[in-house]
Amino acid sequence: MTPVPAPRTFRVKSFGCQMNVYDGERMAELLSAQGMTAAEASDDADLVVLNTCHIREKAAEKVYSDIGRLRREDGSAPLIAVAGCVAQAEGEEIMARAPSVRVVVGPQAYHRLPELVAEAAQGRRASDTEMPAAAKFAALPRRRKSGPSAFLTVQEGCDKFCTYCVVPYTRGAEISRPFADLVDEARLLVEAGAREITLLGQNVNAWCGENGKGRAIGLAGLIRALAELPGLARVRYTTSHPADMDDDLIAAHGDTPKLMPFLHLPVQSGSDRILKEMNRSHTAAGYLRLLDRVRAVRPDIALSGDFIVGFPGESEADFAATLALVDAVGYAQAFSFKYSARPGTPAATMGRQVPAEVMDERLQRLQAALNRDQLAFNAASVDKRCAVLVERRGKHPGQWLGKSPWLQSVHFEGEAAIGDLVEVELAEAGPNSLAGRVVERVAA
Ligand code: SAH
Ligand code: SF4
Ligand code: F3S
Repeated sequence: MTPVPAPRTFRVKSFGCQMNVYDGERMAELLSAQGMTAAEASDDADLVVLNTCHIREKAAEKVYSDIGRLRREDGSAPLIAVAGCVAQAEGEEIMARAPSVRVVVGPQAYHRLPELVAEAAQGRRASDTEMPAAAKFAALPRRRKSGPSAFLTVQEGCDKFCTYCVVPYTRGAEISRPFADLVDEARLLVEAGAREITLLGQNVNAWCGENGKGRAIGLAGLIRALAELPGLARVRYTTSHPADMDDDLIAAHGDTPKLMPFLHLPVQSGSDRILKEMNRSHTAAGYLRLLDRVRAVRPDIALSGDFIVGFPGESEADFAATLALVDAVGYAQAFSFKYSARPGTPAATMGRQVPAEVMDERLQRLQAALNRDQLAFNAASVDKRCAVLVERRGKHPGQWLGKSPWLQSVHFEGEAAIGDLVEVELAEAGPNSLAGRVVERVAA
């Protein structure tokens, strides 16, 4: 490849889950620490990093159309780096299919991005998809800037091997970042402006470590320790697996007021037969019992989940069991997807793949039920008051946008500043947000 001048401006575009958002922010900090400047748009950037997602076929294919779109009217293109889960899963294929890509870097190697970019600028295509456990975190720069709501990756990888899922292959085995590092990073985030921290992991409730006194603790222990940080008002965590919801984490929902009353606990299906084929290690009844135990300590908990329709062999009766589970839970919000066969996963070669039109129809019915429950959950807030963390200005003059304790988006008017916690009286509810006005500022 022909050498190019060393890039001076960059843009990082992240797709997929919140862990990719966190990684994208860290890559941007890393490039800034090298003296590069963030560009407003890809068109103005010398270097574009596509931080990709491999979870479903559509997400993975998007990379190739995005690469094509980076070509400019005059025929030139920025230096393109592909990062994230597609880089990990299909690094060599990307290099072969997309000659304009100069760098491929996996999710566990992105601390090496500046070196790889320098190598590529000299005319050599550069790639690193090694998976050393967590070496990257130690190599990242200190955090200096944060909005009111920040992400903190505490755990990575997954050992669950659900039969449809690529994550154990793209992110590797479960690892937990050390307690002391996390407390330090959380403290820096608070000093940099964070009032709320969301602890992230593909399987965040599998986090384990040793606290400052050398005692073995789980995620609940980490949450309680972070809740002591002065200036931090709210703690959240996502995503959890039902099998790792231990007694202590359930108890934390009752005894740690800064832990917000919201639980994202994916179930995927309401049919025990399908759950078994998915290798989910829980039944529908076991999942419902778990939710009852959380509700017993935190009656106002808002629940969220993930669903897959059309897993191989899913019958109409299996799907009906999913709808019945949705009715039994009453989710505050949820994500639902059509099954997508992923190369290399056991489910991709299972018999009885469900036809596309059946999947479409089931997804519509499921989403109608989930939307109904989400609207009902939001409607129940009207005429009540709640604490809102102010995240940014809204679209209209005088309007603000923030989040309720139950992760609802709230648009409101009145006296406020970014990072404040304000008490808002809620007047209106829509399917995706609430609207109201400030009654008072809350000290926290
Ligand atoms: N670790 C998390 C989430 C992983 S991916 C968990 O287990 O809960 C986020 C969601 O994408 C999953 O919960 C699942 O609902 C969906 N998903 C994963 N693989 C998929 C596939 N092959 N097809 C369709 N949806 C999928
Ligand atoms: Fe994928 Fe299952 Fe692991 Fe979630 S728990 S990341 S769905 S293998
Ligand atoms: Fe996608 Fe990788 Fe996250 S596959 S969902 S970006 S872990």
